[in-house]
Amino acid sequence: MSESAMSAIASGTIRCGVIGVGRMGRHHARLCSQVEGADLVAVVDQSPERRAEMVESYGCQAFESVAALISAGVEACVVATPTVTHRHIVEQLLAAGVHCLVEKPLAPDVDEARAIASAAARGSAILQVGHVVRFDPVMVAIRNITGLTPRFVEVDRVSPMTFRSVDVGVVLDMMIHDLDVLIMLMGSEPEEIHANAVSVLGEAEDVCNARLVFPPGKDGIRCTANVTASRLALKTERKIRIISEDAYVSADFGERRGTVVRKAVNAEQLAAIRQRFQKGEDLSGLNYLELVKVEALEVGTGEPLRLQLESFLEAVRTGGRPFVDAEAGFAAVRTAQRIVESARRAGSRMV
Ligand SMILES: NC(=O)c1ccc[n+]([C@@H]2O[C@H](COP(=O)([O-])OP(=O)(O)OC[C@H]3O[C@@H](n4cnc5c(N)ncnc54)[C@H](O)[C@@H]3O)[C@@H](O)[C@H]2O)c1
Repeated sequence: MSESAMSAIASGTIRCGVIGVGRMGRHHARLCSQVEGADLVAVVDQSPERRAEMVESYGCQAFESVAALISAGVEACVVATPTVTHRHIVEQLLAAGVHCLVEKPLAPDVDEARAIASAAARGSAILQVGHVVRFDPVMVAIRNITGLTPRFVEVDRVSPMTFRSVDVGVVLDMMIHDLDVLIMLMGSEPEEIHANAVSVLGEAEDVCNARLVFPPGKDGIRCTANVTASRLALKTERKIRIISEDAYVSADFGERRGTVVRKAVNAEQLAAIRQRFQKGEDLSGLNYLELVKVEALEVGTGEPLRLQLESFLEAVRTGGRPFVDAEAGFAAVRTAQRIVESARRAGSRMV
């Protein structure tokens, strides 16, 4: 992108496009039309009905091809087409210097994810991956807890079958959200993976559990994570529990709330109990829940998808590194692929 185009972006409204206006893309289109500093110029979709709907709702242009969108002078674009199409679309956009926010997962496999990340590294346009959970106010609150050194993390993401995104398995479709968050929290990909999976409806896995062992932290201690994803559950649940040296954090993304139990805040009670233990007192009459000081997680407000778009536009404006860059998107896909391979080695029958 030319210097004059960059300085126009820095000072003014960014001309935005959305490619793929299905289930996710329609929300991106709405936000591009609402968020300050963005202007929804055009959308692209294979479906004439969906294109017409967007023109009617937002008064934008609508095209059948990515080339037409580029010709319309779009500066930044959200890609929300099926994962198997991401590479072909994103490579065209990056080659034309259009900044991309591409939905998760970055690609259906490691080879395509690497190709996209390499294209992003070669060009000057920004590429952000839509790992939106990082922008969830619950996750923001967890990230704001200081001194968290996770030793053990438990994550559950389960829901009934929606019959959508069945072109990929549950690991790439749902678990990948949590893989990105775990890699972000730990600062590295897992060293060891033990997974098991079950396929019921199609050939790809519908339920998966993985135990991930991360490399040792600065203190030489490893963290393990137990991650479960299912799209065959009878309820919807998105929960995380982090057992850290200094605190226990439990949060519910669906309910948008959580609790924190800090060791430091409970130091006096712990010392008193320790003393009574040492004296051999019978403490079975004590109510643990009354003793321990539990704080509410300070969860803010905001629509994660909007916060993600604002963060992307800020990176476009400043030319800074996006919060979830191509390498982060690649790391999540690589970890997902390792999990599926581990499940297959364990005997899970999948394609
Ligand atoms: N961040 C999240 O929480 C989340 C949730 C669901 C889906 N997703 C991701 O969003 C992406 C889209 O999923 P969806 O559920 O919205 O799919 P969808 O099928 O509902 O919508 C995809 C749209 O893209 C259009 N399309 C398909 N191929 C195209 C092409 N080559 N060019 C132009 N348009 C094309 C289709 O006509 C459709 O309108 C996937 O990568 C998926 O993994 C993310």
